[in-house]
Amino acid sequence: MTEKMSTHQAQEDQRNEEILIYLNGEIVPKAEAKVSVYDSGFMLGDGVWEGLRLYNGTWAFIDEHLDRLFEAAKTIDLDIGMDRDQVKQAVLDTQSANDMISDAHARLMVTRGVKTRPFQHPSLSRQGPTFTIIMEHSRPNLPRPIRLATVPHLRGLPMTQDPKLNSHSKLNCILACIAAEKAGADEGLMLDVNGFVNTTNACNFFIVRKGAVWTSTGDYCMNGITRQKVIDLCRANDIPVFERNYSLVDTYGADEAFLTGTFGAQTPVGDIDGRQIGDGEMGPVTKRLRALYKDLIAQECA
Ligand SMILES: Cc1ncc(COP(=O)(O)O)c(C=O)c1O
Repeated sequence: MTEKMSTHQAQEDQRNEEILIYLNGEIVPKAEAKVSVYDSGFMLGDGVWEGLRLYNGTWAFIDEHLDRLFEAAKTIDLDIGMDRDQVKQAVLDTQSANDMISDAHARLMVTRGVKTRPFQHPSLSRQGPTFTIIMEHSRPNLPRPIRLATVPHLRGLPMTQDPKLNSHSKLNCILACIAAEKAGADEGLMLDVNGFVNTTNACNFFIVRKGAVWTSTGDYCMNGITRQKVIDLCRANDIPVFERNYSLVDTYGADEAFLTGTFGAQTPVGDIDGRQIGDGEMGPVTKRLRALYKDLIAQECA
């Protein structure tokens, strides 16, 4: 079990070399989808993004994703320059240009746009935002449960760079992922400023103890849409669920652990810091939640 793996690993798909990309109102071949080196996203990570998934012709939970995108843009005082319907239309146009029906993943990215000078001040972005949509054929391909390593990089307080923002700049998370890889794991398990287990560098994190599902209070982590769906599914199906503080002691001793995110839905975790979780394979509660989530997607994307 030494091969490298990431939580966002997908099957190789040659069609992704030929995809069309949405770039500021135009849909262009991937090779032509180019952004200036003066773009504030490239220069400073000054932008926000969303990841969405297409199932059976429908973008799952698109309204929640657009709520989060517009909320993040408002927070960083970035005018997307399009309303919700226009953003939705851009997604649909890109989908139809790419002839995609199912098993596709979209990354919507909006930055403060091209700057007049290569410096930080946001007022140097005067040409309007840069809006792009990358849409790829995507089938998750995770051959084994994920291995996590606890890393020294914390989920910060909201008054520094609020960890709820899906900002282009993800350096804290990237450093966490690098540290995890160097420790021989796939992804970093991040603690909050009080030392409680919070989330991973790219997904939300859950444990299962004696049939009950635990996740962090929701402070310091991304308000994941999949995270909320799992909590709602637990409540609707009489599975005890707690949003609470808990430590590595509770985590190492858990019967099961799993990650949530739009890409992978619910991904089992087999090992944390060299401690096997449960029997190291996907546990029964994780299996049940995956089945419930699959049904939910089938209803949403009927
Ligand atoms: C740091 C982080 N945590 C969790 C998530 C999962 O969120 P969602 O379930 O909305 O995809 C994401 C995805 O954007 C993320 O970047």
